[in-house]
Amino acid sequence: MLLKSLLQTASLLPLFYTITSAQTACNNSPSLCSKAYNNITHLGAHDSAFLRDQSTSFSTAGNQYFNTTTQLAAGVRLLSAQIHKANGTNGGSEWHLCHTTCDLLDAGTLAKWLGEIKAWMDKTPNEVVTLLLVNSDNASGNDLGAEFTASGISKYAYAPPAPSKPPTTWPTLDSLISNNTRLITFVASLGTASSNYPYLLDEFTHVFENKFETTSPGNYSCQPDRPSDVSGQPLEALKSGRMFLQNHFLYSTQLFGLETPNTTYIKTTNGPTGTGSLGEQLGECRNLYGKAPTFVLVDFFNVGPALQSIDGINGVSGAVGRQSVSAEILEQGVARNDGTDKGAGVKRRASWGVLVLATGVGFFML
Ligand SMILES: *[C@@H]1O[C@H](CO)[C@@H](O)[C@H](O)[C@H]1NC(C)=O
Ligand SMILES: *[C@@H]1O[C@H](CO)[C@@H](O)[C@H](O)[C@H]1NC(C)=O
Ligand SMILES: *[C@@H]1O[C@H](CO)[C@@H](O)[C@H](O)[C@H]1NC(C)=O
Ligand SMILES: *[C@@H]1O[C@H](CO)[C@@H](O)[C@H](O)[C@H]1NC(C)=O
Ligand SMILES: *[C@@H]1O[C@H](CO)[C@@H](O)[C@H](O)[C@H]1NC(C)=O
Ligand SMILES: *[C@@H]1O[C@H](CO)[C@@H](O)[C@H](O)[C@H]1NC(C)=O
Ligand SMILES: *[C@@H]1O[C@H](CO)[C@@H](O)[C@H](O)[C@H]1NC(C)=O
Repeated sequence: MLLKSLLQTASLLPLFYTITSAQTACNNSPSLCSKAYNNITHLGAHDSAFLRDQSTSFSTAGNQYFNTTTQLAAGVRLLSAQIHKANGTNGGSEWHLCHTTCDLLDAGTLAKWLGEIKAWMDKTPNEVVTLLLVNSDNASGNDLGAEFTASGISKYAYAPPAPSKPPTTWPTLDSLISNNTRLITFVASLGTASSNYPYLLDEFTHVFENKFETTSPGNYSCQPDRPSDVSGQPLEALKSGRMFLQNHFLYSTQLFGLETPNTTYIKTTNGPTGTGSLGEQLGECRNLYGKAPTFVLVDFFNVGPALQSIDGINGVSGAVGRQSVSAEILEQGVARNDGTDKGAGVKRRASWGVLVLATGVGFFML
């Protein structure tokens, strides 16, 4: 009764609507809706589809404990993947998500993965998602575009007015959401662009990155590394209109120079404080550029939790609509709390056997 009579009071209607719209969240927070796409920091799952879980026998080639759908549900908004040409079932070739080679870790077809992302976006109309596809076997724009069409995700794809150069301004999350063009896709690199698929954007036309092969927590650098025309030149990188992608993951170097994610230090790597922590490196890079990075890529995103530092730099408190996930190191399905590596030995050796075979070194390792 009271509510009804209040609503009938015309003078209160504007207030009611203001409250309602203020509660609409974009990428988990109402405070992000009016911000430009490039003015917020998007948390990225590095090698999103390469899992270290039951499905891969806890492969050391895996970079995430949770699958792409769970990453998105938990708050990840950038997904990176490597695209490789693989043998299809009917004698032809197919585009697959593989880690370095399809013998090491094959996470299935690109179209199937895009379909998984589309299914999540169908249910979450206020979320803007970014893809970063590493084009390992030089797929053309037409090859990749066909996969986007087949999966149905192309209906969400955003094409800037002039895809071949950085725009002076990017749209706000609100406007991407209201137009339902909520998928931004970068390809590294798009050898042969296709005017049929103007939403496939060449990564290094729009984005610059710091170096990614860091093996010591004291050795991260915020300096531009790629593309080469702005390498080592932060002011030039900013002036070019490109957005900054901060790589923030640590490798362990193994025999033969092979590199796998370092999980023994991951709590600090993805945590708020400490040498080589996400929290401190975000601050350092923001100081260098006078602006927070637009994208950050991490391994094992749940640990840290990485989102704590991302929310901090976005000024977000009380994020809504996120699935909560364990922040633990999940080796063989068991949380490893103490920062040591026990219990993972057998499976690790098993997957190294595969890796050594795949690289053709012909060396038996235990
Ligand atoms: C984006 O940030 C720039 C400053 O870096 C500011 O001038 C601009 O108004 C912001 N735009 C939006 C829509 O967030
Ligand atoms: C992702 O993981 C969740 C939780 O383990 C599972 O329920 C879901 O089926 C998985 N989704 C896909 C597409 O594999
Ligand atoms: C495709 O199959 C052929 C013959 O089995 C093999 O030599 C080749 O390496 C395979 N290519 C890929 C990309 O897996
Ligand atoms: C990629 O493919 C295009 C044509 O399909 C070719 O012109 C270009 O040289 C290729 N690039 C590389 C790096 O192989
Ligand atoms: C949204 O659609 C309108 C009408 O087609 C267009 O003018 C506007 O530029 C679009 N905005 C974005 C962010 O694409
Ligand atoms: C860290 O950086 C220093 C200085 O550039 C270099 O000498 C050292 O080799 C690097 N260490 C590693 C593990 O990359
Ligand atoms: C991971 O990095 C830490 C910090 O540098 C180091 O102490 C540890 O040995 C590394 N772990 C592996 C498996 O390389």
